[in-house]
Order: sequence, then structure tokens, then C-alpha cells
Amino acid sequence: MAEVRVGVIMNGVTGRMGTNQHLVRSVAAIRDQGGVTGTNGDRIVVDPILVGRDAERLAALAHANGVERWSTDLDACLADSNDAVYFDSQRTELRAESVRKAIAAGKHVYCEKPISTSLEEALDLARLAREAGIKNGVVQDKLFLPGFRKLKRLIDGGFFGRILSVRGEFGYWVFEGDWQTGQRPSWNYRKEDGGGIIVDMLCHWRYLLDNTFGEVKSVSCLGATHIPQRIDEAGNPYAATTDDAAYATFELEGGIVAHINSSWCVRVYRDELFTLQVDGTEGSALAGLRECKTQHRANTPKPVWNPDVASPFDFFADWQDVPDNAVFENAFKVQWEMFLKHVAFDEPYDLGFMDGAKGVQLAELGLRSWAERRWLDVPPLSIPDRMIQREEAIR
Ligand SMILES: NC(=O)c1ccc[n+]([C@@H]2O[C@H](COP(=O)([O-])OP(=O)(O)OC[C@H]3O[C@@H](n4cnc5c(N)ncnc54)[C@H](O)[C@@H]3O)[C@@H](O)[C@H]2O)c1
Repeated sequence: MAEVRVGVIMNGVTGRMGTNQHLVRSVAAIRDQGGVTGTNGDRIVVDPILVGRDAERLAALAHANGVERWSTDLDACLADSNDAVYFDSQRTELRAESVRKAIAAGKHVYCEKPISTSLEEALDLARLAREAGIKNGVVQDKLFLPGFRKLKRLIDGGFFGRILSVRGEFGYWVFEGDWQTGQRPSWNYRKEDGGGIIVDMLCHWRYLLDNTFGEVKSVSCLGATHIPQRIDEAGNPYAATTDDAAYATFELEGGIVAHINSSWCVRVYRDELFTLQVDGTEGSALAGLRECKTQHRANTPKPVWNPDVASPFDFFADWQDVPDNAVFENAFKVQWEMFLKHVAFDEPYDLGFMDGAKGVQLAELGLRSWAERRWLDVPPLSIPDRMIQREEAIR
């Protein structure tokens, strides 16, 4: 069996996601397990090079993870034809420019979501990727979380009958930074730096809803900036210039109604930081990041509204855990392995830039819905063809 080396240029890897999910739990974990084996039996050996601005931090991160190569010169990294893949988990608004450079250098590109901060830019990246013939992928990690894989299993097994509605609760309290430091980077709360919960989360909801229940057809979204001032990493107060909560309703293919609240200003009284309840004619389920519980119609209690007496029901007790029945690997790692096999062996992979663009599209429509205070349809997307546009302009 052959060994195939895949060099991966990792940019933005000193950040929260870059370090924890992409370097430690994915690329370094894949390297430590001896690589990934394709369906052809050949094995990919992954060889990362960490790139960023701060030499000291890069050197420390590389050392801590047994990575030999790091650099502060992105252009030089992109010029090295020995490294086939460019990965980007920089702050969102910096992504498009670096991805453009990577495509121009002929790299295959994998990146964090959102792929960009505007749909126009996302579609342009998809067009450039197609024209260059490079392989491309965008992180869609929620699809690979154990709880949502169990939910998908229930759907595929026909558990729900006809699905009626989906209601999601995402969020937790992000400290303002005064008496306790904030647990998210401050750029998340500044529009001018690519922040905002609508841009951040609606792209997740797009691929999760599209791939689990049916395509999102329309959206109504109300955003809010509940906490107007926060304290940044240096201890300085700053104005929050973008939304920190979003209350969004979606109509899905087949008439399913989905409503998802996303908030960094909510205290958690649920089992996990994101839970999704699905109600169908035959049964219901509550999926979280790791767990999934069900209630079949046969086990459904029959409460009667009477606030004058204490409830005789323990509503939580009537739900059953869906068993694992499989070993679930880290969601980011699962997707990394798929992408690496796509690059090295041309194995199928369909979570590309166009899917990333769909996420940005929904985020943009959510922001517009909020601004215009109305429902908006989600039109189908296609990659713009510059040649056709040019020809039409000439005619
Ligand atoms: N998939 C998910 O569940 C998930 C969760 C959180 C964040 N994200 C996405 O991951 C990306 C990074 O988020 P994060 O929370 O890790 O942010 P972070 O602030 O912790 O990291 C950002 C990275 O960008 C780099 N960077 C910042 N400013 C820069 C500049 N001016 N020039 C060059 N590099 C610069 C930083 O050095 C760091 O490496 C964002 O696009 C975010 O939307 C995804």
C-alpha cells in the first residue's frame, strides 16, 4: 500500500478554532493516528505548516504539537508546490483575500465558515475555485456531531412520520468582560471586524436544516444587540456594533416550520449549548451536540392544562436515549479526513464553496429580513459565470 504525503498550510491556527479543533483535535490527531487510509487502501500522511503573524506564538504552538514547520510568510508558503492544501481559520473578514491568493497559487482550499462576509464574495470564490479546478471545502461541523448523526439516523429510519416542526435553542452567556473575561474574541461583537451572531450562526443553520430536513425556502429574522458595551482582551471598553442575538423562523421544503433562537445573552437551562426539538406525527426527538432523546407517540403523556394543581407529570422522564451504536470521532476531524481523501484520492466530498455560499446567503437574507422587518424567500444559487456576464454586457 502506498503512502501519499499531503502538505497543509494552516493559517489562523493560533486562534480559538484553529488551535483546538483544527490543529490539536484534527490535523495533529490524524498525524498521531498514523494518517488516513483511503478506500483504495493507500494512506495519507498529513504534513502541516503553521502560518500566521506572530513568530513567537507560532513557534510555541508548533513545538507544543510536535509540528516542525511554521512561517510568518504566507506568500512564500503558497509558492511552495510541495504543499497542496491551504486551510484558513482566520477572522472571517480576512478569509476571502487569502483564499483568493491560495486559489491563484493552485492550492486546494479548505476553510472555516462563514466562507466570507458577503454572498457576492462567496460566489466569486466559488467561481474562482471552479475555474481553477481546485478542490474546495467549508467546515460544516454540526452535521458530524454525535447528537445530530443520531437525529439523522432517526429521520432515515422513518421514526417521525411526517415532520411538523423544528425548534432550536442555541447559546450561552458570554461574559461582558468587566468582572469576568469574555469567553469569545471581541471581534465577534464588532460589525466592522466581521462579527455578529447572524453572520456567525445562520450559515450553520443553513447546512444543518438543508441536509437534515429539507431546503430552507424562506426566512424571517429579528436580530438584537442586547449588550451595547463590552470590554475587550486588553481591558478597554468598546461599543458592540452588531447583533448578539437572533430570533429566526424558517420555512423548509415540505412545509416544515423551523425556529431557532441564537444568543450570546442567555443563561443555559437545557442539557447542551445547542438543542433541537423535532416534532412529527409518530414521535418527537430532542437532539443536542452529543445526545439525542426520543418520545414515541405510544409514550406520549396526556397533560391537561390546570395551573391550580402541581403537575402530576415528570415530563423529562418519558424520553428515551438513542444509543450510540457507533464510535463518534470529533466532528471537525471527520470532515478533515473526508477532505484529505477527496484531495488525495478524489473520493466524493460535497460540502464545498457553494454550500458555504448558501450559508452566507441565508445570513445576508436574515440581516435584510431584520432591517426590512419582513419575510424573504431564499432564491436558488448558481455560480456566476464571468464569461456569460461579459458576453451579455457586450450584446
Ligand atoms: N465551526 C465552528 O463551529 C466555529 C466556531 C467558532 C468560530 N468559527 C469561525 O472560525 C474563525 C475563527 O474564529 P475564532 O473564534 O477562532 O477567532 P480567533 O480570534 O480566536 O482567531 C482568529 C485567527 O485569525 C488571526 N487574525 C486575527 N486578525 C488578523 C489579522 N489582522 N491578520 C492576520 N491574521 C489575523 C488570529 O491571529 C487568529 O489566528 C471565524 O471565521 C469564525 O466564524 C467557527
